Amino acid sequence: MELRAVKGMNDILPDEAARWQRLEQAFREHVARYGYDEVRTPILEHTALFSRQIGETTDVVEKEMYSFARHGDELTVRPEGTAGAARAYVEHKVHTKEPVSRWSYLGPMFRGERPAKGRYRQFYQAGCELYGDAGPLADAEMIEMILSLLNQGLGIGNIEVRLNSLGAAGTRARYRDALVAYFTPMKDKLSEDSQRRLEKNPLRILDSKDPRDREASKGAPSILELLDEADAAHFAGVRRHLDALDVRYIVDPTLVRGLDYYTRTLFEFVTTSGDLGAQSTVVGGGRYDNMIEGLGGPSVPAIGFAMGIERLLTLMPGEVSRERPAVYVAPLSDACTSRALVLGRDLRARGVRVEVDGRGGRLKAMLRRADALGAKFCVILGDGELERGVASVKDLAGHKQDEVPLADAADVLAARARAEASLPPGEAR
Ligand code: HAM
Repeated sequence: MELRAVKGMNDILPDEAARWQRLEQAFREHVARYGYDEVRTPILEHTALFSRQIGETTDVVEKEMYSFARHGDELTVRPEGTAGAARAYVEHKVHTKEPVSRWSYLGPMFRGERPAKGRYRQFYQAGCELYGDAGPLADAEMIEMILSLLNQGLGIGNIEVRLNSLGAAGTRARYRDALVAYFTPMKDKLSEDSQRRLEKNPLRILDSKDPRDREASKGAPSILELLDEADAAHFAGVRRHLDALDVRYIVDPTLVRGLDYYTRTLFEFVTTSGDLGAQSTVVGGGRYDNMIEGLGGPSVPAIGFAMGIERLLTLMPGEVSRERPAVYVAPLSDACTSRALVLGRDLRARGVRVEVDGRGGRLKAMLRRADALGAKFCVILGDGELERGVASVKDLAGHKQDEVPLADAADVLAARARAEASLPPGEAR
């Protein structure tokens, strides 16, 4: 029997991890400029947190959560990051410490969806949540932050920003009634899921991928016509600020998103490149002004987003290669291995990336390995070198070789490695 990774869950081997690290670093640096600091919350939460916040009649809660009972608790492996962060915000009474909080996070999420390209059962999200600012400036600034991260930070073009407003709770209730009235006469033409959800959560019909629901949704009433004065003013403010920031967007009144907690502004970033097929949404987010209060906290408005890291990596141009060792140490006999270990340690203490070949054996194989790793220098330590108190240093790119006193070898090699690192790539010495 062969044991394989769980379906829909991927291994990321070191060759690939270099690109992940580049994306993660770009994300962290970018959002830090906007004031976001990292929060880390548990991967397991009480199931009730997700079912109440995300919504009992959403696909995520009805079909996709990994839930189990253990030690008397009903637990769920987090399908997203927003509910857990909000739970932590309330639990630690963060609102009493500062009026506005900006949190970022990055990590694995779990949803039992049908795996496809860009859709996995364990996938990674990077996201931000902003608490305590109800104004449209926050919405526009967040959207601009995401777009500049994708465009400038990651080099991803062909991105469309889709924008909608769901209004506050009162508007949603009126919209719900309007949708029930609209869909009820054609109930038989809807998918089974949608027929079941019609009374409770007709917004989900607009979000359904089923062709029957899509067809039925075509003439559905637009939420934008139902917005009250305050909602409409907020939405107009978001649009005005986006215009001032030169952010182009498409207002899409059918955009409802798959989670129930949203109020007012909703947005998605979609790639038009075709590389991701049906999984073209790379970022989703919006306002959720009622969640903190719903969790037993004070009335604190919030807005946030999350981006799918695997999807963005498919679109991110450029190879990122693994870091190479600057120095490869090749001890040629048992007698030399201890000295090789000491040299390795001393070079690392000077900040140099070093690999010591512990396999023993022939110089030729060790040099081949040093070359394959892309090392700059190979230090050869044989019995002859030890007797004379020197190390032979082979400059692998320059094809030169010299001897360095063993006592100075760490200092000399560290200096050479530094000089090498400061040369532009490919520059001849
Ligand atoms: P979401 O739209 O469910 O929103 O997910 C955000 C992004 O995560 C998606 O646009 C997609 O790129 C990625 N994603 C979702 N599911 C998968 C999957 N199965 N495989 C690969 N990638 C996936 C949220 O999760 C909200 N918490 C966003 C948010 C934060 N809203 C407010 N604050």
